[in-house]
Amino acid sequence: MPPLPHDPAGLADAYRVAPGRHLRVNFIASLDGAVSVEGRSGGLGSDGDRRVFRTLRALSDVVLVGAGTAAAEGYRPVLPGSAVGRLRSSLGRPATMPVAVVSRRASLAPDDQLVTDAVTPTLLVTCAAADPERRAALAAAGVQVMVCGDDEVDLPAALDALAERGLPQVLCEGGPALFSAALASGVVDELDLSLAPQLVGGGPGLLPSALGSPLRAELRQVLDEDGVLFTRYGLRSGAGG
Ligand SMILES: NC(=O)c1ccc[n+]([C@@H]2O[C@H](COP(=O)([O-])OP(=O)(O)OC[C@H]3O[C@@H](n4cnc5c(N)ncnc54)[C@H](OP(=O)(O)O)[C@@H]3O)[C@@H](O)[C@H]2O)c1
Repeated sequence: MPPLPHDPAGLADAYRVAPGRHLRVNFIASLDGAVSVEGRSGGLGSDGDRRVFRTLRALSDVVLVGAGTAAAEGYRPVLPGSAVGRLRSSLGRPATMPVAVVSRRASLAPDDQLVTDAVTPTLLVTCAAADPERRAALAAAGVQVMVCGDDEVDLPAALDALAERGLPQVLCEGGPALFSAALASGVVDELDLSLAPQLVGGGPGLLPSALGSPLRAELRQVLDEDGVLFTRYGLRSGAGG
């Protein structure tokens, strides 16, 4: 099995996608499908996984993340001087990129570091049912609030709106609730799943509830480093094929 490239350019080549609209989802999971250890993904990580995480961010226009993951993992904005910012610059891309938080309830706090520390304004993807005062407070704090859908967030509409903002290549970093909704709405083009050689147990894992019917994935790439498998799967339900 080919090794995961060490050099940043080689790793970028291994994960680059064609120009145009594309939604890729990145997860790390244990052999039994667990996506966290004691509530965070870090317990599954490795040096290779962190390089892939940075590379996928460097290649994408926007990070899409559920409010639960943003809170659990202590999300911060992507800053120019960060490892991702430097990698983006070395690949000839703008040093920063926005983070888009998906929340039906607009539950991002105006004093969250994702809001206060952002160089490229953080986006909130929400729906009309979200409390108007919360939305207004976030907008006043500098968040770009995107209302997509009435009672629920309409993910296809959200991706249309991101593309209209010049952000066609979307990296979704989960979590499981957002991944489930994205699969159900047929917008996922690719799953980049890193398999950590651990057994963890104890949780609902990658998908918290059953899909309407099993979805067939097409294996496109497997790379290895220290027993961690780095896979890329195409998902035929994706709008971009
Ligand atoms: N191993 C990995 O690669 C990985 C990756 C990501 C997350 N995780 C782990 O997963 C756990 C979090 O799981 P989770 O399922 O709670 O995460 P999640 O999907 O990030 O968050 C769920 C929350 O996000 C919002 N949301 C998600 N999908 C939505 C949709 N379609 N429409 C509207 N709002 C939506 C809702 O927020 P509101 O309630 O505010 O409306 C919902 O309560 C954490 O332990 C984290 O460490 C692991």
